[in-house]
Amino acid sequence: MPTHVAIIMDGNGRWARRQSLGRIEGHKQGRKAVETVVDTCREVGISYLTLYAFSTENWHRPVTEVRALMALLQRYLRSERQQMLEKNIRLRAIGDLQRLPAPVRAALEEIMEATRNNTGLTVCLALSYGAREEIVQAARVMALAVRNGQLDPQEITERTFARALWTTDIPDPDFLIRTSGEFRLSNFLLWQSAYAELYVTETLWPDFTRSEFLAALEVYQSRERRFGRTTEQRGLTSDLARVTRS
Ligand code: FPP
Repeated sequence: MPTHVAIIMDGNGRWARRQSLGRIEGHKQGRKAVETVVDTCREVGISYLTLYAFSTENWHRPVTEVRALMALLQRYLRSERQQMLEKNIRLRAIGDLQRLPAPVRAALEEIMEATRNNTGLTVCLALSYGAREEIVQAARVMALAVRNGQLDPQEITERTFARALWTTDIPDPDFLIRTSGEFRLSNFLLWQSAYAELYVTETLWPDFTRSEFLAALEVYQSRERRFGRTTEQRGLTSDLARVTRS
């Protein structure tokens, strides 16, 4: 099982259009898929789930859609608070949280604080998130530390740099899922996904069910992760490697 699954939840708008509904209805259905995936992660023992819920670029959507998404997020936080406590879920968030409307930020911060000592699944919401922005702010943190004499440039390593990212205490994703058939990372976890296994499904996010998620996890289990080494070094011989060698 992957330790950390990250998901680009795409296709809410197309789902709504196919049902002759407004885009907001698509997002509302998308929220149900979020709940299914969270429950399935707990069921199968995944430790971290990161959901791309709102990107930096999403601020450029029509004001009505942005408002509806923020309201949906606030309702989600309010209604799931108790469940998160009961289910031992720890809530985290990454992104430029200062840009979120004050009530959303307040609800988020309150739940993060209330669940911080929970030891079950960590649900990490990427909100107002952009990976390039995350990397730039990490570089700024490092530069300031050097200027203040707290950090020797020689000490800037992959490890220290990763600690300055918003995901500081979260392991890199093992498995990155994108729904709705687009083969793009869309500025999501660019640093952290260096060795993530990628999985793209045509299914639109609101239609992403428990069984579809389990099928994706089966695909993950069939992958051979070599991290730049050879099959023999990893002590693995996949079916594919056997076929290509014969
Ligand atoms: C992408 O679909 C989805 C989003 C921009 C928002 C994701 C939000 C949710 C799944 C709703 C609730 C989330 C939480 C955490 C409560 P799109 O609108 O870009 O779809 P399209 O590409 O088909 O237009």
